[in-house]
Amino acid sequence: MNPAQITTTEAVDQVFLYIFGISVVLLLAITATMVWFVVRYHRTRQPQPQTSPRSNLWLETTWTIIPTLIVLSMFWYGWQGYTTLRNVPEGAMDVKVSGRKWSWSFTYPNGRTSDILVVPVGRAIRLDITSEDVLHNFFIPAFRIKRDAVPGMHTYEWFVATNPGSYDAFCAEYCGVAHAAMITTVEARPEAEFENWYQRKYGTEEDQDKGRQMLASFGCTGCHSLDGAKMVGPTLLGIFGRQVTVTSDGVERNQTIDREYLKRALLQPQADLAQGYPPVMPPYTWLSAKELEAIVEYLQELR
Ligand code: CUA
Repeated sequence: MNPAQITTTEAVDQVFLYIFGISVVLLLAITATMVWFVVRYHRTRQPQPQTSPRSNLWLETTWTIIPTLIVLSMFWYGWQGYTTLRNVPEGAMDVKVSGRKWSWSFTYPNGRTSDILVVPVGRAIRLDITSEDVLHNFFIPAFRIKRDAVPGMHTYEWFVATNPGSYDAFCAEYCGVAHAAMITTVEARPEAEFENWYQRKYGTEEDQDKGRQMLASFGCTGCHSLDGAKMVGPTLLGIFGRQVTVTSDGVERNQTIDREYLKRALLQPQADLAQGYPPVMPPYTWLSAKELEAIVEYLQELR
């Protein structure tokens, strides 16, 4: 159990302020003493060197015990904060977080997926974190939580948003060329608004939104824009029917982008590589046949 019943933000900030406060007091005290000694024991005041005492038991005991207590109190406070971070409050909502080159996707208990993390205000959220390829790290500065996403392993962290708002979430582990693009948002919404979002089914939304959301949830939009801008990869706007120069087995040739090409580009991205782009796209072999079809359908309509 979470002993103190406080949020992760409070837990971390208290420790930070405590250690920072002690550091400031020590800095000022040591600097002041130093300046005072420089003046007090200047050569003009003490022309002849004096013999100094070899030891002073009272002084040595004091300067051993006090710092020891200070350091132990820092440890104790830090440990309290750590247990708060590692003990998820009961009744927390479980959200699966998956990192991949180069985007995040979130899966809720009812199966809803999203590329932004929408949460209800005031309810604890437990994040079950993993990675589909390399090491990533899910970091939400506002809630002071940061945890590695490791392929083949599940890690966790928790937080509760006490105020509605929008907070940044980053990847904090260098994971390749578009590492910096692995940014998303945590949207904290009032309970009723959250429920509204949570229960909404794709079928009731606009097709365009649905398609965009799908591309984002598969991680495409981390590297491919939908508005014509050049990113790590070519834009997906108007990709269907476009004439491109591709390199296949080291040979350059012209290609008109069709359904076959799009499917091959997803499953074997390096097979026919578009000229001018780095060979960095991971193969999407984990897509189901239905998902592959849905992506190609949408790309065909994206003009
Ligand atoms: Cu993912 Cu850096």
